Amino acid sequence: MKKESELHVEKDEEHLLLDHNYDGIQELNHPLPSWWSFLFYGLIFISGVYFFYYQFMGGPTLRDEFFKEYAVVMKAQNEANLANKTFKIERYKLINNTDGIKKGEEVYTNNCLPCHSENAKGDIGPNLTDKHWVLAKSTPETIYNVAFNGSEENGMPPWGEVLTPEEIYFAVAYVSSLKNSFQKGKAPQGEFIED
Ligand code: HEC
Repeated sequence: MKKESELHVEKDEEHLLLDHNYDGIQELNHPLPSWWSFLFYGLIFISGVYFFYYQFMGGPTLRDEFFKEYAVVMKAQNEANLANKTFKIERYKLINNTDGIKKGEEVYTNNCLPCHSENAKGDIGPNLTDKHWVLAKSTPETIYNVAFNGSEENGMPPWGEVLTPEEIYFAVAYVSSLKNSFQKGKAPQGEFIED
């Protein structure tokens, strides 16, 4: 060990001088700040807990977490679908005006006309302007339900999968505006409903 006088050690660092000597080289020991050591050992501890929890104590896997979140999304989606499926008379009343009927005519022309023909006089699908109904019961609500869900086995597509609820409301307003206008077309089908 060299004599103290030969070392270049600041006065306030003397207490940091380690008690060893490698061929004349000595070192100072600056201890790590306690917050740093605390964090370091703390994280090692947490990693141990984490490992045990996920490996041996049944902690959820990434797959479990994915399906848990997926279930939440599916639930929200089903609720939204159900809400769209349900006819809301207030919403219908808001759009059932001249403007809504005009928009409905556009939706009808683009989607319904090929089967129900001009003015809903009927072709592949029934005449929607008489008092006879196969599936619907003349009311906007029943027309909406038939349009939304369709009758696939008989050739009426479920429009809820293609159009927005808004567009279906418009189409219902248009079809309802032609109700009892008795367009010359397909012969009446289904049940007679007086309204
Ligand atoms: C691919 C042909 C086709 C298209 C396109 C079509 N329909 Fe139909 N629609 C039918 C058929 C066929 C029926 C009869 C189903 C049955 O008898 O079960 C029907 C039935 C209906 C009924 C019930 C009629 C009743 O007498 O109860 C309504 C209301 C209706 N369609 C509205 C619409 C609307 C609104 C659209 C457009 C958004 C549309 N349809 C587009 C084929 C079609």
